[in-house]
Amino acid sequence: MPTWAGCVIRHEETVDSTNRVARQWAREGAPHGAAVIARAQTGGRGRRGRDWVSPAGLGLWLSVVLRLAESAWRTLSFAAALAVSDACEATCGIAPQIKWPNDLLLNGRKISGILIEMEGSAAVLGIGVNLRQRAEDFPEALRARAGSLLTQTGADIPPEAFLPPLLDAIEKRVCQEDILDAYTARCVTLGSAVRVIEASGSFLGTAQSLDASGALIVLDTEGILRRVQAADVSVRGENGF
Ligand code: BTN
Repeated sequence: MPTWAGCVIRHEETVDSTNRVARQWAREGAPHGAAVIARAQTGGRGRRGRDWVSPAGLGLWLSVVLRLAESAWRTLSFAAALAVSDACEATCGIAPQIKWPNDLLLNGRKISGILIEMEGSAAVLGIGVNLRQRAEDFPEALRARAGSLLTQTGADIPPEAFLPPLLDAIEKRVCQEDILDAYTARCVTLGSAVRVIEASGSFLGTAQSLDASGALIVLDTEGILRRVQAADVSVRGENGF
């Protein structure tokens, strides 16, 4: 049983974004570990300004307020990705791979995403996990790349069954000392041929390692080591990138 993760939980039916609600709660003094869960989000937020589609009851839409030492922020997104992977393993027996920095993939399809936002000195850890969608539940534009635990493993896990193992895993992973080693072992990006898409353009290379700040070090096709901090990185699969 976790001691702080989910120490107080607000269950909402529909909100625009659990991250927005949790940030407001953080401003009002929510304790470390306070969590907001919604059955549906009407304005779910993704990384890099994208939307996150969050239909009622088909996934876990969760935000957790974290009051951590500044030294823990650097690895928080890696700890969170491992926690989601752990919770998938606990509920359906398969640990998804992690695509840098924190997308969770099963058979190459994204089943979960993580958005961390700062609110003053607190971090709000937003986690979306696609659980029960069938292919036709995803918008057409996402259908080729998105999946759920149901489509990828056949396991039909309701949000309320996914929450306890996830809170357990968040508590364990956020405090883990050798988190970068654990992350490296489950990160499909490291060692792979990648395409990096940055605001200024894109390039091909091989992902080599992480630096101390968690940035991805990529050896480009010209033989130059490049440090990638905020970008979309696709990993080469059977059908190219
Ligand atoms: C991504 O782009 O991969 C990150 C998606 C994060 C979605 C979750 S769902 C719960 C929380 N509330 C939000 O508005 N976003 C995050």
